[in-house]
Amino acid sequence: MAVCIGIESTAHTLGVGIFKGERMLANENDMYRPKKGGIHPRVAADHHAEVFGSVLRAAFEKSKIAKGEVDFVAYARGPGLGPCLKVGMAGASALAAKLGVPLVPVNHCAAHVEIGAHYCKMKDPLILYVSGGNTQIVVREAGIGRRENGAVARRGRGYHVMGETLDIGVGNLIDVFARSLGEEFAHGSVVEKLATGGKYFPLPYTVKGMNMTFTGLLTEATKQLGSHDKKDVCFSLQETAFSMLTEATERALALTRKKEVLACGGVAQNRRLAEMLALMAREHKARFATSPPEFNADNGAMIAYTGLLARRQAIDWRKADVNPKWRLDEAVI
Ligand code: ATP
Ligand code: FE2
Repeated sequence: MAVCIGIESTAHTLGVGIFKGERMLANENDMYRPKKGGIHPRVAADHHAEVFGSVLRAAFEKSKIAKGEVDFVAYARGPGLGPCLKVGMAGASALAAKLGVPLVPVNHCAAHVEIGAHYCKMKDPLILYVSGGNTQIVVREAGIGRRENGAVARRGRGYHVMGETLDIGVGNLIDVFARSLGEEFAHGSVVEKLATGGKYFPLPYTVKGMNMTFTGLLTEATKQLGSHDKKDVCFSLQETAFSMLTEATERALALTRKKEVLACGGVAQNRRLAEMLALMAREHKARFATSPPEFNADNGAMIAYTGLLARRQAIDWRKADVNPKWRLDEAVI
């Protein structure tokens, strides 16, 4: 069975994972946590370079495999922060060169989708991918793989984005809003906790077909913090944003008649969102599942797993590059 090492470095996490066939042997990650505010791409990149060696060593030790057993090195080529991506690419290239194995460029979003489908045992799901930077409704389809230059891939599987946010990701909506709450940790899990027992009041709701926008909701919810109880604003923000996601996903489900619905990405950890999606899926007689939390956060294992699926896309390490804006529907596995 083929062995693949995966390197993740798109944002705040430097991760190294190892897969042997369908079995995960290691998933070691080190997250950069800024003391204040958002992440600075170059400082995060320095962090990744600093911890690369130790995380790689830890992954090798955990996996108990010898270096000679490695067949592929995969790395997250995008989307993400340029300086961070370059550290991962450089480390992965050096490793591939040293081990004398091919290098597999992997799309970070595709990796969240693939590992989720693997662990939730889904063959052909409708996918809602919701994270800080991304909010997309996706289906996988053979034969529609489209490359960045627009050419259609003759072999392999591509992704079709049926709907998406037209401005910011839903995680970004929640995080920016959370910064106005005056809490120490501006994060979706904090908003989820604060929302418990809150009362609903209407906020801007914008769905166009299977697309949505969140900035109007963000502006209004932040403004309402001055005149409403914190708890009620958190609750209403969640109800509004998650209803928008559920409506758009339901439209895609009615159209595609898929029998499985998969939620993945950081925001998929929210219990209220999962509850809404599960209810909606049940009405359409579809099975709903959320990707395991370990794989909703950024991690190296999902890059290793997807690297094995995408091994036909392997390149010589000298041809490695990054694409900070690599869209999921431009990726082929
Ligand atoms: P990607 O590169 O895939 O876009 P990311 O780094 O932007 O990833 P993730 O690490 O996948 O994002 O997820 C982080 C996001 O998930 C943050 O916006 C965070 O607030 C949100 N999140 C995490 N837990 C919860 C929760 N319980 N409820 C709502 N949002 C959550
Ligand atoms: Fe991610």
